[in-house]
Amino acid sequence: MTDTKKTAQLSLNGETYELPIFSPTTGPDVLDIRKLYGQAGVFTYDPGFTSTASCDSTITYIDGGKGELLHRGYPIDQLASKSHHLEVCYLLLYGELPTAAQLEDFETRVTRHTMVHEQMHNFFRGFRRDAHPMATLVGVVGAMSAFYHDSTDINDPWQREVAAIRLIAKLPTIAAMAYKYSIGQPFVYPRNDLDYAANFLHMCFSVPAEEYHVDPILARAMDRIFILHADHEQNASTSTVRLASSSGANPFACIAAGIACLWGPAHGGANQACLEMLKEIGSVDRIPEFIERAKDKNDPFRLMGFGHRVYKNTDPRAKVLKQSADEVLELLGVEDNPLLQVAKELERTALNDEYFIEKKLFPNVDFYSGIILEAMGFPTSMFTPIFALSRTVGWISQWKEMIADPQNKIGRPRQLYLGETARDYIDIESR
Ligand code: ACO
Repeated sequence: MTDTKKTAQLSLNGETYELPIFSPTTGPDVLDIRKLYGQAGVFTYDPGFTSTASCDSTITYIDGGKGELLHRGYPIDQLASKSHHLEVCYLLLYGELPTAAQLEDFETRVTRHTMVHEQMHNFFRGFRRDAHPMATLVGVVGAMSAFYHDSTDINDPWQREVAAIRLIAKLPTIAAMAYKYSIGQPFVYPRNDLDYAANFLHMCFSVPAEEYHVDPILARAMDRIFILHADHEQNASTSTVRLASSSGANPFACIAAGIACLWGPAHGGANQACLEMLKEIGSVDRIPEFIERAKDKNDPFRLMGFGHRVYKNTDPRAKVLKQSADEVLELLGVEDNPLLQVAKELERTALNDEYFIEKKLFPNVDFYSGIILEAMGFPTSMFTPIFALSRTVGWISQWKEMIADPQNKIGRPRQLYLGETARDYIDIESR
């Protein structure tokens, strides 16, 4: 952040106030209103934070107009095609691409932390056997603070580091356990000879009764999904993690809060909702009916996987995933998958429809991810847990950045109060 010495002037009730302007390294300037209430006695009003920067950050940059997503400056399409998830994790956490030695050390540290405390197995058994894996994930990740006391002191940099590694390493294990539990199969322990994505597929799909071979193309597609969901600036779940953390809560509690927020259908739950929508549409000839419903103000139906708060041109992650969907379905010999046909035709129709053009609504990351995940064998209930495990590194990087920031203080938004003014209590017999 550079102080450009530029200011904006606000005239209010006959007084003029100077508001400093900060210039970011890229993106729009930011008005500093921190002293506004103290000086002018007014708040700003911005429900949904559509115009408010809640922090400064050096991790991720999005240009919604250009459809650009950069992690530490590196474009997402380059990372998706040239890198792999653990390298992207290193980049997000530490700010630079690792050297070969740094990467090897990081991979070893993550790999050595993939097992969960054996007592956690008992903890899982407290959930109803048909619990949604997201419900289990929120509970178990929150409970990590009860199992890993030695990495909950946020004022100790070493403990923060251990907590970060533990979360990145154990989330795939916990997500896979939540899945296995929901289908009544035994938990599968992680394997250190497999890479991050292949190990996750192994923990989800292998059973003790037979040998399971992880297809490297599917592992690569899985890894790409992890990369594409790894971080996304100050979105709802990341802001939730930061807000929870601003009170000094431990990292496991903060990440559990992020997972809870991610579950909603307007956020991470959209991939499940999108696949369910594609199935409901069912065939290409029913697309016009659903397009009309999406445009009807009296119908709550929205095209799931379409639209984004920040991207108003294209979601660069959706482009990569569309290509991945073609590759995975071809590998599995199901390139004529009816859902993919419906998705492609729906995208084509919407992108040529005046309503979607005018409102700048484009397919987002969730539009094609569900098709890939289903083709790999995941049930829809696992889509959001997979998003959560991918996003863990983003949440934890933002959390680490926030704690190290000397400006860090408890988040405490104000409000525009529209309720009753002070009035006297009325005894119950008189009401
Ligand atoms: N289908 C139909 N109309 C839509 C859609 C959609 N998917 N998305 C937005 N619109 C319309 C709204 O009705 C609104 O119309 P209006 O101006 O006439 O009232 C206009 O476009 C703007 O929409 P908002 O909801 O105000 O935009 P916002 O930025 O708040 O919402 C959001 C973004 C939540 C993603 C929205 O587009 C949506 O609900 N999409 C479907 C759910 C989805 O795919 N979510 C995943 C997001 S990506 C992620 O979390 C990984």
